[in-house]
Amino acid sequence: MERDRKIRIGVVGIGNCAASLLQGIEHYRQNGKDEEHLGLMHYDLAGYLPSDIEIVAAFDIDRRKVGKTVDQAIQAKPNCVYPITQSIPGSAVTVRMGHILDGVSDHMRQYPPHRTFLPSDEPPVDVVEELVNNRVEILLNYLPVGSQQAAYYYAESALAAGAGLINCMPVFIVSSPAWAARFEEKGIPCVGDDIKSQIGATIIHRTLARLFTDRGVRLDKTYQLNTGGNTDFLNMLNRSRLESKRISKTEAVQSQLDRPMDAENIHIGPSDYVPWQNDNKVCFIRMEGRGFGGVPMDLELRLSVQDSPNSAGVAIDVIRCCRLARDRGIGGALTSIAAFAMKHPPQQFSDTDAKQMTEQFIKGEIPR
Ligand SMILES: NC(=O)c1ccc[n+]([C@@H]2O[C@H](COP(=O)([O-])OP(=O)(O)OC[C@H]3O[C@@H](n4cnc5c(N)ncnc54)[C@H](O)[C@@H]3O)[C@@H](O)[C@H]2O)c1
Repeated sequence: MERDRKIRIGVVGIGNCAASLLQGIEHYRQNGKDEEHLGLMHYDLAGYLPSDIEIVAAFDIDRRKVGKTVDQAIQAKPNCVYPITQSIPGSAVTVRMGHILDGVSDHMRQYPPHRTFLPSDEPPVDVVEELVNNRVEILLNYLPVGSQQAAYYYAESALAAGAGLINCMPVFIVSSPAWAARFEEKGIPCVGDDIKSQIGATIIHRTLARLFTDRGVRLDKTYQLNTGGNTDFLNMLNRSRLESKRISKTEAVQSQLDRPMDAENIHIGPSDYVPWQNDNKVCFIRMEGRGFGGVPMDLELRLSVQDSPNSAGVAIDVIRCCRLARDRGIGGALTSIAAFAMKHPPQQFSDTDAKQMTEQFIKGEIPR
């Protein structure tokens, strides 16, 4: 019997990452095979194409998005993504009012005129009921950094509704053994935490750290400073919301070194919000080390990317891997794709090993 190829996703947080993902799905739907080698790691992932992904439920709390159809909401302010496609067809899916909890930092409510962030007055919906009624197979979490209670709330909802979870932000759920065990008990796959972009600051910094190690150069000091002008960067001006992001980004680099660096010698984090940058993220990396005979060297790098499509290019594979796990009846944390696609997975591997394991998983050679 022909399998149903549609992958029914729900999305929490119709911000920039969701906007890029949904525009990208439409782009590959419209351009099909002509673009199969542009910007994708897999066009056909074990029989699933990007266009097989369909959004069937959406949650947000911003009054500019709640009550709108998904195609309208992804274009609403403060979203500011690079337009991947000009023609987004009308969607039948309406963005529902979610549960605010700790999703909105106070400073966002008071920010200057056009950036001011106001939650909708609508009452929150029953998220589990929405997920069940819309037969959501996989729920993507794109909540702002620091939304710990909200992230737990939606993860609980996914569990209750039998939906898989892809946790794209840095609250540690899939990398927490207790949470992962609950997904495994229920036979529901989960992938997390904190998505690692296609060519972003993390993958480059990790790769260089591994290069130093492999070539025998001792990394003594390093920093990674990032600036951007999207809502994610605005939110991260509130330093009290940043702890898990800092841990996630720092461990992602430390894990690639044979000898982890002293905490005072490694500084990684979002550094400032520059409004006119919009979704353009600029990253500065400096690495100081000592090579043969203890002779010093240093490296400076500047990377400029569009932040949100960069994460969508990875999410598009994670979603399809999650669906493969569902097809195969596998629940719990998917360690291979998590190590490849996430900054803070249950288990860290080198990116080369993680890529190889992911390909084995896709072919069905390893279970997770
Ligand atoms: N390259 C990347 O862009 C990248 C990489 C790694 C991780 N991430 C993480 O992904 C997450 C999403 O990033 P983004 O750029 O789309 O952020 P964003 O601020 O543009 O979007 C977040 C959305 O969540 C909504 N929201 C807030 N509280 C909510 C709640 N309680 N319920 C439902 N919706 C709520 C907001 O209104 C907003 O629309 C962030 O945590 C970010 O750090 C992004």
